[in-house]
Amino acid sequence: MQLLSLSLLIVLLLQPQNFCQSKRIVGPYSTIPSGRIKGGELAEVEFAPYQVSLQPIVGVNNCGGAILNERWVITAGHCVENYIPALVNVITGTNKYLEPGAIYYTEEIHMHCMYDQPYMHNDIALIKLTQNITFNELTQPIDLPIRPLRVGDEIVLTGWGAHEAYGGSVEDLYKLTLGFVPFSECYDIFNQTSSMGVGHICTFSQEGEGSCHGDSGGPLVSDGRLVGVVNWGRPCGVGFPDVQANVWYYLDWIRSKISGNDKCYY
Ligand SMILES: *[C@@H]1O[C@H](CO)[C@@H](O)[C@H](O)[C@H]1NC(C)=O
Ligand SMILES: *[C@@H]1O[C@H](CO)[C@@H](O)[C@H](O)[C@H]1NC(C)=O
Repeated sequence: MQLLSLSLLIVLLLQPQNFCQSKRIVGPYSTIPSGRIKGGELAEVEFAPYQVSLQPIVGVNNCGGAILNERWVITAGHCVENYIPALVNVITGTNKYLEPGAIYYTEEIHMHCMYDQPYMHNDIALIKLTQNITFNELTQPIDLPIRPLRVGDEIVLTGWGAHEAYGGSVEDLYKLTLGFVPFSECYDIFNQTSSMGVGHICTFSQEGEGSCHGDSGGPLVSDGRLVGVVNWGRPCGVGFPDVQANVWYYLDWIRSKISGNDKCYY
C-alpha cells in the first residue's frame, strides 16, 4: 500500500501533465484528466466564496471543488482517484489560486462507491479535511439543492480551468452563466452514449463557451445552491453541452457520508 502510494507520487511528480489539468474529456470517449472555463468572464472578489482549488503541489491547480461545511469539500471522483490525502491540498478564500487565502489538508478521500461504474458514472467524491475551515467574507459553504433543475434555471460555473482545450489553468477565477439542458435532449445529442445516466445533468450556453481543462470537480450553482460538479465534455466549448454530476441525485449519498454512515447509495 505504502509502496503503491509512493510510486504513484513519483509518477505524478515525473509527469506533471497527469494532474495539471483536470476535466474529463470525451471525444471519442477517451478520458484525459483536465480543468478552465472557455468563454467566461472574470469573477468578482467574493463572487464564489465556496470555490476551492485542489492542488497536489501548492501552486498547481488540478481541479476545482466546493465547500459544503467546516470539514467537507465536494469534487469530482476523477479529481482524487488514486490520490493519497497528502496530494490533495485544498486552497480556499481566493480568486487567485496562486495566492491562497488559506490552505487546508485532507484527512480522508471518499470516492463514490460506484465511481466509474458504469464507465463515466458516479464521478463524485467528498474530501474530509484535517481541521475546520475558518469562514469569512471570502470563504463560505454552499447550500445543497432543494429541488431538481428545470429548464430556464440560470446556472453559474466558476473555475480556474483553461481558456482553450488542453491549455493551462488561468490565474484568476472565471465565471460563466449556463442553461440547463433536459436529460433526453442531451442524451440524444451524445447519441445515447452509455457514459450518461440519471446521475448526470447537462449544461450549455452557446458554442465558444463551456467548462475546460482544470474546471473539473468545480461548482455549478443555481439560485445560491450547488446543483452540479464538473464531470466531462468535449474540449472545450465546441458546441456540445457539458456533462456534470447531478448533486440533487446524490443528496442521500452526500448526507450519509458526511454524517458518518458508510452505506452505499447508488
Ligand atoms: C468544527 O466545526 C463543528 C461544526 O460547527 C463544531 O461542532 C466543532 O466543534 C468544530 N471543531 C473544532 C475543533 O473547532
Ligand atoms: C452523433 O452522431 C452523429 C452522426 O454520426 C455525429 O455527427 C455526431 O457528431 C455525434 N455526436 C456526438 C456528440 O458525438
